[in-house]
Amino acid sequence: MAFNLKGRSLLTWLDYTPDEIRYVLDLSAQLKAFKRAGIRGRNLEGKTIALLFEKPSTRTRCAFVVACVDEGAHPEYLGKNDIQFGKKETVKDTARVLGRMFDGIEFRGFSHETVEGLAKYSGVPVWNGLTDMFHPTQALADVLTLQENFGEVKGLTLAYVGDGRNNVANSLQVISAKLGIDCRIVSPKSLFPSESLVARCRDVAAATGAKITITDDVKAGVKGAHALYTDVWASMGEEDKIPERIALLKPYQVNEAMFEATGRKEAIFLHCLPAFHDLNTDVSKKFPDIQEVSDGVFEGPQSRVFDQAENRLHTIKAIMVATLG
Ligand code: CP
Ligand code: NVA
Repeated sequence: MAFNLKGRSLLTWLDYTPDEIRYVLDLSAQLKAFKRAGIRGRNLEGKTIALLFEKPSTRTRCAFVVACVDEGAHPEYLGKNDIQFGKKETVKDTARVLGRMFDGIEFRGFSHETVEGLAKYSGVPVWNGLTDMFHPTQALADVLTLQENFGEVKGLTLAYVGDGRNNVANSLQVISAKLGIDCRIVSPKSLFPSESLVARCRDVAAATGAKITITDDVKAGVKGAHALYTDVWASMGEEDKIPERIALLKPYQVNEAMFEATGRKEAIFLHCLPAFHDLNTDVSKKFPDIQEVSDGVFEGPQSRVFDQAENRLHTIKAIMVATLG
C-alpha cells in the first residue's frame, strides 16, 4: 500500500506510524534492487537539496550526495564554517532563507532543537542526519539490514550494548517499538536512556507487540539476541569523556564471549560506524582500551557492518523520494 508522505520532515520516527515506516522500508529495498539492476531513477529530478553539517560525517554525507545524484537532484554541502548559521544568523532566519531556495534540507549537528527549528520555519522537508538525541536515518538502515538477514523484523530480538543514552540507542529504541522488535538496551545504569523516552517507547510497544528492556545485566540482556549492536563509547562532542567511558564500558565490549552468551549461532553483529576495533586510528592509538568491539567480531563472519553502511544510501534515498519525490 502506498502512503502519501509528501512534505513530511523526518526528525524522529516517533512522528511516523508503523505502516508509514514499513512503506519507507519497502521502498528502500526496492530502490536498492533497482540500483543493483542498473536502473536509474529520476524521482528527484530538478530538486536542490541543502546538506547542513555542524559535525563531521562519512556515511551520512556520502549517502545523501549519492542518493541525490542517483535520482537527479543537486546536493549542496554547507559545512559549519561555510555559512552564517549559528554565528551571525539564527536558526529561524537561516531556515526561512534556505526554504526559499532549496526543496529539502538535511541537518547534522548538536542540538535537536536546531533540526526542529529548521523544520518549523523552512517550509520544506527537513531530514535529521544525526543530533545529540536521535539518528533516525541510521535506524532505518539498521532495520533494513535485519530484514535482509532474517526476513520479517517483527518478533526479532535486538540487543544494543554500550552507551544506552546516545542518539543511535535512542533511535533504535524508537524504531523497535514501532516495528514490534524485542529491544534490549544493555548499559551501565548511569548511561540508561531517559525515562521519558522509555515511557513513550513502551506506550508505542503496547500497541505493536514490541518489548523494551533496559538493563545493566549483560548476560540476561544479550540472551537470545538475533543481533548484537554497539556504537562508540563517547559520541561526537563528548571527546573529553573518553577515559571515564572506557572505565565504565569495558565490561560491555562486544566480543566473542558475548556472542556465545546470545546462544544463537545465526546472531549477527551491527555497528553504525565509525568503529574502534583495532589500534589503527589516531584515537585508538592514544586510548588503546577504547575498543567497543573486538577486532575478531568486527572482521568475523557475523559482521554485517558494511552491508549496513551501504544500506544508508538506499534508505536515505527512500526517505527523500517518499517525502519529496
Ligand atoms: N553512521 C554514521 O552516521 O556515520 P557518519 O558519521 O560517517 O555519517
Ligand atoms: N553516537 C555516534 C554516532 C556516529 C554515527 C556519535 O554521535 O558520534
